[in-house]
Amino acid sequence: MTHTSTRYDFHDKRSAYEQLAADLAALLAGESDLIANAANTAALLFEALPAINWAGFYFLRGEELVVGPFQGKPACVRIATGRGVCGTAAERRTTVVVPDVHAFPGHIACDSASRSEIVVPLLGAHGLLGVLDIDSPEPGRFDEEDARGIERLAAVFLAAGPAS
Ligand code: SME
Repeated sequence: MTHTSTRYDFHDKRSAYEQLAADLAALLAGESDLIANAANTAALLFEALPAINWAGFYFLRGEELVVGPFQGKPACVRIATGRGVCGTAAERRTTVVVPDVHAFPGHIACDSASRSEIVVPLLGAHGLLGVLDIDSPEPGRFDEEDARGIERLAAVFLAAGPAS
């Protein structure tokens, strides 16, 4: 398996995310199982992205988000839509970047080391499938270029499997 051996140079974020999106597409090619693809996506992102401590999925089940495949410390299992950063991104259906989680009202702390966070909603052909959540121990870890890059990775994940 060579997918996680690549060293991505995030000094040039644009080309690093381009490379990572291509590698993710190759990793998921030919497989449409949602759980398998979510597990491999979380593993690739956790290896590839610098300065992160959690990467994974929450999937929409009724009115709640339920944790899916991830890498990092054990996480809270259920998050109501509208609660926390994940539930806010799910409700708004837009990417939420939180530079300082301590300043975000209602932030749900799964790993006390987390200082900043990005959550990207997964919008399938039939609506909201869930969210992709990435945490960092560094404040202000995610900027606009990260948001666009991680949205692109989410789109690659969605394109590989069955939509919601
Ligand atoms: N911090 C998230 C909860 C999930 S963990 O970060 C893995 C939130 O506020 O929704």
